[in-house]
Amino acid sequence: MQIHETAFVVSTYRSLHESISKDDYAKLWNNPNTDALIPSILDTISKDEAVLHSIRNRFFYERMKSFFDINDGGTLINFGSGFSMYQFSFDNTVNTIEIDKKDIIDYKKEKIDNWTKEGKLPNRNIEYTAIDFNQNTAKEILLCLKPMIKKEPTFILIEGVFFFLDRKTTDKLFQVFKGLQNPGDVVGCVTYLPEVENTEVYRRLLHYFDSNNDTNDSFSHQTIPHSYFQRIDGYSVLEKTDEFELSKRYASNRGINNKNEILNETMYLLKRI
Ligand SMILES: C[S@@+](CC[C@H](N)C(=O)[O-])C[C@H]1O[C@@H](n2cnc3c(N)ncnc32)[C@H](O)[C@@H]1O
Repeated sequence: MQIHETAFVVSTYRSLHESISKDDYAKLWNNPNTDALIPSILDTISKDEAVLHSIRNRFFYERMKSFFDINDGGTLINFGSGFSMYQFSFDNTVNTIEIDKKDIIDYKKEKIDNWTKEGKLPNRNIEYTAIDFNQNTAKEILLCLKPMIKKEPTFILIEGVFFFLDRKTTDKLFQVFKGLQNPGDVVGCVTYLPEVENTEVYRRLLHYFDSNNDTNDSFSHQTIPHSYFQRIDGYSVLEKTDEFELSKRYASNRGINNKNEILNETMYLLKRI
């Protein structure tokens, strides 16, 4: 599976559980190629993957909505945005900057522009920029993004991306975030904690990627310890939760009873200090 295909997969997951994800627009991205991949992923890795990704979306939807409501708008800066559609569920006082690799960004912009013209999506102020986090320096990324921020405060989201990056690139991105944000601004991010590496379900995930990587689209399998988030220069931890905890609130009838049997991702909200 190529990395960009993972963006289609998580979007389809959200469309399968709209009442949990609160993403009414994810289904616009559904397509037969991705639909054909989903059953084997749910069978070979974990049947709960679609629900868990929908829970993750719900968490960030709720937190970003209240951040922008309290501040009467601002800018969502979405790093590795894939096909996420949060901006269409927020008020039009929220600007969005979408950042991803060039193939995703070009495809997304064209589709969104068309769907907006056709009235399938509400009009939103969105800027798109193609950046490969591995290739550009922190200075280059800052120079590109800083002028695009027209409305403060900012909420930076980096969701479902750290797994694919190495630690050096992750450190670089946090320098970028610090350079873009002011005190009180927020970063929302997702990681696997290292303890997940000991679970059978995580081994099945790695095996799935290894055995379905027909394209040499290589990536890291990064996990990040809690201590990393406690020591990020310029940030303090505002909130930490995980999909297992949130499943009790958003998917209590799904029979998710054992943390070690699911691919349990941890979500952080970090406050710029
Ligand atoms: C699993 S998808 C998640 C997409 C979206 N954030 C979501 O949660 O729906 C991972 C995304 O990270 C992007 N990505 C991975 N490595 C990247 C890199 N080095 N530079 C820019 N984007 C990257 C991929 O292109 C893809 O869109």
